[in-house]
Order: sequence, then structure tokens, then C-alpha cells
Amino acid sequence: MCLKDTNTTKSQPVILGIESSCDETACAVICGRKLLSNQIISSASEQAKYGGVVPEIASRMHIEAVDEVAARALAEAEITVKDIDAVAVTYGAGLLGALLVGLSFAKGLAYSLGVPLIAVNHIRGHLAAAYLDAPELEPPFVTLLASGGHTAILHTKDYLNFEVLASTLDDAAGEAFDKCARVLGLPYPGGPNIERLALEGKEGVKLPSALVKHSERTAFSYSGLKTAVINYCHTAEQRGEAYSKADVAYAFQCAAIDPLVEKTVEYALSLGVDCVTAGGGVIANGYLRKKLASACERAHLKLVLPEKKYCTDNAAMIAAEGLNQYRAGNFASMDINACAAIPLK
Ligand code: KG4
Ligand code: ZN
Repeated sequence: MCLKDTNTTKSQPVILGIESSCDETACAVICGRKLLSNQIISSASEQAKYGGVVPEIASRMHIEAVDEVAARALAEAEITVKDIDAVAVTYGAGLLGALLVGLSFAKGLAYSLGVPLIAVNHIRGHLAAAYLDAPELEPPFVTLLASGGHTAILHTKDYLNFEVLASTLDDAAGEAFDKCARVLGLPYPGGPNIERLALEGKEGVKLPSALVKHSERTAFSYSGLKTAVINYCHTAEQRGEAYSKADVAYAFQCAAIDPLVEKTVEYALSLGVDCVTAGGGVIANGYLRKKLASACERAHLKLVLPEKKYCTDNAAMIAAEGLNQYRAGNFASMDINACAAIPLK
């Protein structure tokens, strides 16, 4: 069944999205771009006991949660399974066992309903999150992608195609936040804890910027920044000198984020697009959001930032990317397998 879109009176497809690539079991329903429900059951607090995500625990908790989260999403959307036009699911990248739980559930549901299955690349889901809060958003635009596994600036040309303008040569920004948090003795997940600690910090600690030149092209490197944080802390500890962890967190956050913001705006201006979007867990960072908003305002660029809850892992973004694929007629076959790693391009 297609529900009427109140804005356009055109019939819009109802898509149920499922996400289980890491430690969040999530299910959401959209009708066109309108989000009808968004449910998450997270195993993050259980994983925090071990200092990071334990794949076996993640898989087991997805199995326990997937039925419940889907039932909650249908109830919140006030629909039944008979109203669903397609099932979109993350098939990669992520933890293989965790992905298989969501993918198997989605296959069973799509097959039993006789509706198409849409296999969604998790990273494309992060990119599509921007469409959720902005019904008027249309490509082309420049997108800043910063997650636990990827860091790149993209030229989003249309709903299906993008070009990578610049990317990291080594670690992703989110990975660097997590590693730096560990060095500073902060618990998992590292990113939000660094952000909180940095609020108490001030300028003073010198760390190298994540911006590097690679064969005359703009690129980012986070492994050097991480090593500099380790060296700074270890040297101070070996000398018995007191240092402020908050100041280190502050300096790290600036070194990690400032070049991403600066280059995103530079690329948007040089390409002549009038809009910037962003996606991925690191985009939930308050310092990044403020910095990007003021840089875009100064450059007279429109900025579409997904709400924080749609930056970290969720199923609404998977349904949003499912809609792009649905409109292009890109449906998956029932023998599709989960995939632990998918290249960005
Ligand atoms: O996009 P995401 O949820 O998962 C991947 O697909 O990778 O990103 C997770 C990453 C983690 O590294 C986490 O530390 C980081 O996003 N993150 C943050 C914040 N919230 C999550 N990094 C900085 N500041 C935050 N507030
Ligand atoms: Zn993610």
C-alpha cells in the first residue's frame, strides 16, 4: 500500500528499514521522506563493560531485540506489515554476525509479504540521513562524512552517485576519537566523552592538524594525531609532570575537526554548489556542528545537518537510503549475503 503524501498528494511508498551492523538493533518506517517511526534497542551499555563492542555479544543481543524493535516501529507508525511496500536492510559494512541477524529477519519479512528487499550500504545510509529532516533537499551538494570507519568529503551528484573529493589516508575521525578517549582513560563510546571533557578544556596543548597533503591532493591523517596524543600524555607521565586531560581533549577535538570543516566549505565554494550536508557518528559532535554552521553561514552556503540521533547508527537513515534505491528500482535477490567490508567507492 502507498500512503498519500500530505504535501504532494502523490502516492508515496512505505519502507521499513532495519539496521544491525554494530551494537544498535534498529527499525524505522518512512512514507516517502516522512518518518513515521524510529526505534532503537542498544547494547552499548552492556558493551561498555568490556571497553568496546564484543561481536558475539552484539549478535546475541540483536537476536533478542529484532522482533521487539520491529513490533515497536510498526506500532509507533500505526501501520501493520500489510502496509509495507519494501523492506530495506543494512547488508554491510559491519560485524558479520550482527549484520546476518538483521538481513535474515528482513529477507523473511520481505519474502513472506511478497515485497522487494533493498540491500543498503550502511555508509550510504549515513549520507541519506540528511534527507530525513529536509523534504526540500535535492542534490547536488557537498557532504562531510565522518564516522567510526570513514572520513571523507564527497560531491553528491544525484540520489545515487557521489565522487570522493578528499578522504583519510589511515584511521577514520571517529576511530581517532575512540582511541584518544582510551589514552585519556575515558570509557566507551569515546567520541561523546571527549566532547564532554573538551568543554572544560582551553587552548595550550600543541597537536598536529589532521590535514595533510598527499601527492598534491588534500587528504586527512588521524594516526599521526593519535600518536601525538599518546606521546604527549606518556612524556608528561614519565616526567612526573601534571597535565590537563581536558586541555588535551580540547586540542585533539580542534585538530581533528577544524580541517574537515574548512575543506568542506572550500570544496563547496570551488564546485559552485549552494548546499552542504553531513552524516556519520562524528557529526553528532556539538563543536563540529557549531563550527560547520558558522563556516557555512559566512560562506553563504545552506547547511542541512541531520539531527544528532540520525547521525549515529539508526534505521531511519537505512529506510531513507532504501527510498533512493526503491525509486531507482534497485532490488536485492534473496540470496544476497552480508558483507563485513564495502569500499566507500
Ligand atoms: O557512524 P557511527 O555511529 O558508526 C559507524 O558507522 O562507524 O560512528 C561511530 C563513531 C564512533 O567512533 C564514535 O566515537 C563517534 O562516531 N561519535 C562521536 C560523537 N558521537 C559519536 N565523535 C565525536 N563526538 C561525538 N559526540
Ligand atoms: Zn554507522
